[in-house]
Formats: sequence, structure tokens, C-alpha cells
Amino acid sequence: MSDQLRFGVIGAGRIGRLHIEHLMRRIPNTTVSVVSDVVRKAADSAAAEFGVPRVVGDAKELIRSPEVDAVVICSSTDTHAEFMIESARAGKHVFCEKPIALDLDAIDSALEEVDRAGVKLQIGFNRRFDSNYRRVWEHIGAGDVGDLHMVHIVSRDPAPPPIDYVKVSGGIFLDMAIHDFDMSRYLVGDEPETVYAVGGVRIDPQIGEAGDVDTAVCTLTFRNGVYVTIDNSRQAVFGYDQRVEAFGSGGMVRIDNNAENNAVLSTATAVQSDLPLNFFMERYIDSYIAELQAFVAAIENDEPTPVNGVDGRIPIIMGYAATKSLAEGRPVRMDEIAKM
Ligand SMILES: NC(=O)c1ccc[n+]([C@@H]2O[C@H](COP(=O)([O-])OP(=O)(O)OC[C@H]3O[C@@H](n4cnc5c(N)ncnc54)[C@H](O)[C@@H]3O)[C@@H](O)[C@H]2O)c1
Repeated sequence: MSDQLRFGVIGAGRIGRLHIEHLMRRIPNTTVSVVSDVVRKAADSAAAEFGVPRVVGDAKELIRSPEVDAVVICSSTDTHAEFMIESARAGKHVFCEKPIALDLDAIDSALEEVDRAGVKLQIGFNRRFDSNYRRVWEHIGAGDVGDLHMVHIVSRDPAPPPIDYVKVSGGIFLDMAIHDFDMSRYLVGDEPETVYAVGGVRIDPQIGEAGDVDTAVCTLTFRNGVYVTIDNSRQAVFGYDQRVEAFGSGGMVRIDNNAENNAVLSTATAVQSDLPLNFFMERYIDSYIAELQAFVAAIENDEPTPVNGVDGRIPIIMGYAATKSLAEGRPVRMDEIAKM
């Protein structure tokens, strides 16, 4: 075996290319030995740009390849569970983009196979690795805000996705709020009990015609008594709005948006600064590197991964509970959806 950890990356789209770049150029002692995409041109172009030596059309060939120690699954969501099962059976460690699947039975089958095989699994909830959110988590953990009472999460996109994407996305809670559900568990350090969701169409009527909402607020109660609000919008005209505040008996910690610079212009008429970074590829770029570094460290040191299969499963339950809550206009318990 070579000194380097050799990855196979399935799916050379937006996020796949990013992971390939990081594994080839930014993370020490890692390489991508094979890339696969059903669209051959996508795999060929990523291979050429980042120097990946081998391209295959069939992801299963990549998974079985002896030059692959670990698989990164970045293909469309409906393929994740199947590739996770194949990888586990082949004894390969798995880094899987969120969500594992939108079907809870499919998630459970995939997680059972991973357990049986004893391979490492990490889910791509990258925001946990963003230095701002991590600092909030550290302050909460150190008791700096005292007894935690409330967490407020603001998570608004700069612009809605195309309508064709909305139609197959699973809805705002499973598609967009899923990162925030993960963040709520991460910061609170416990499990949610109930969710009450309100939402409507305030931005684009086509989103409503597609059966979704574009503006929503979830109120969650956690087992340890902490309350969390999650505020989602598909359109913040000033850019990607990603903030959090944690409040407790001893104080408060909050983070603001990141901008490309922190210059503030003050004149006789206004005080102004530049807009926040526009979207996730800019805002969270460092976290995508850090999450893969953590995955590599877990493999090298034979330690548990920091975002495991359960962390991948529970936000899906939360997403279904929020969807049901909105449809029925009442708080919904997580155990109405599935056992946690
Ligand atoms: N963690 C994050 O912040 C984040 C951000 C974006 C996307 N994602 C997730 O990553 C996944 C991919 O999203 P994306 O935005 O990169 O999508 P994308 O459409 O840009 O790329 C997906 C690629 O997978 C390929 N593909 C589809 N089926 C395949 C198969 N059977 N075998 C091999 N390749 C296949 C497609 O041809 C495409 O090139 C989704 O599950 C999405 O939810 C996560």
C-alpha cells in the first residue's frame, strides 16, 4: 500500500470537483486515484484539471478498484445509499455527501451494512467544520454562556434554485433546512423532541405551484429543555445570510456573516461595508477542506469519525417532522416519524 490515502470520487459535479481539488492539492498525504461520473465528460474534465490518473463510467468499478482505499460519494442523492452499501461490502471507508437518502428504510439498510463491515463513515455536514460555528460550539461546551437556553439559527440563500430542482428537492426542510437541523443538534448537544413549522410562499409563486414553500420558521424543543428556532428563506437580497446566536444563563455568543473583507466606510450620510460572501462555495470553502481532513485523521488514527451515520439519519427525521408539522399545522414529535 502506498503512503498516501487513495480516494475514489463518485460524481464530478459541483461538490465532487471541489472534493477532488482538495484531496489532490490541499490535504496532505491524500490523492484521488479514480473518478467516476455517468456523464463521462464531467469525469474527464475533472480528471484533466486535477490530474486524476483514471476515469471509469461505472461507479461500482471504482468501488471495487484495488487502488481505492476510501470512497467519496458526491453523485445525486438517490444513488448515495446504494454506493454506500457497495463500498462497505468492498471494505472501503466512505465519505458520503448529505443526505444519505430521502428514504429512511434506505438509510437504515445502508447504515446496517456499514456497521457490519466495520468501515469508517462520515457524512458531509460541513458547517460543523466552519471556524465560526465551531467557536460557538466551543463556547457552549466550555460553559461560557452558562446553562444553554436558546439557539437561533438564520439560514437564508441568496436566490432560489431553478424550479426543476425545487420539484425534486424533497422540499425546503429536507433540502435546505437539513444543514440547520444538523447544526441545531451539534450546538445543543442533545436530541430534538418536537418541531413546529410555519411557512409560506413569499418569493416566487412557482415554488408554491411546485408544492413547496420558500419562507419558513421552525421552533424545536430539545430533550434537555433547550429551544431552537431555524429561520429559512430562499432569497436574501444582500447575499448568503448565515448567522447563529446561542443564549444562556451566563451570557450569549453570536456570529455574523463573513464578507470578502471587513472594511467599514463611514461618511456623513452612512456607515457601510461590503456584502456577505455570496453562496456556500465561497462562504464554506474552508469547512469542506477541514471536514475531509477530519475524515482522513479518523482513518489514519483509527478513531470514530466526527459526523457519523446517526448524524446523517436524524436530520432526515427532523425534515419529515417539519414537513408534517407544516402540512398539519401542529407541533410534531420526532417519534411520530421514526424511532431515534
Ligand atoms: N455539503 C454540502 O454543502 C453540499 C453542497 C452541494 C451538494 N451537496 C450534495 O452533493 C450531492 C451532489 O450535488 P451537486 O450539487 O454536486 O450535484 P451535481 O449535479 O453538480 O453533480 C452530481 C454529479 O453526479 C453525477 N452522477 C449522477 N448519478 C451518478 C452515478 N450513478 N454514478 C456516477 N455519477 C453520477 C452527475 O452526472 C453529476 O455530474 C447531492 O447529494 C447534494 O445534496 C452537498
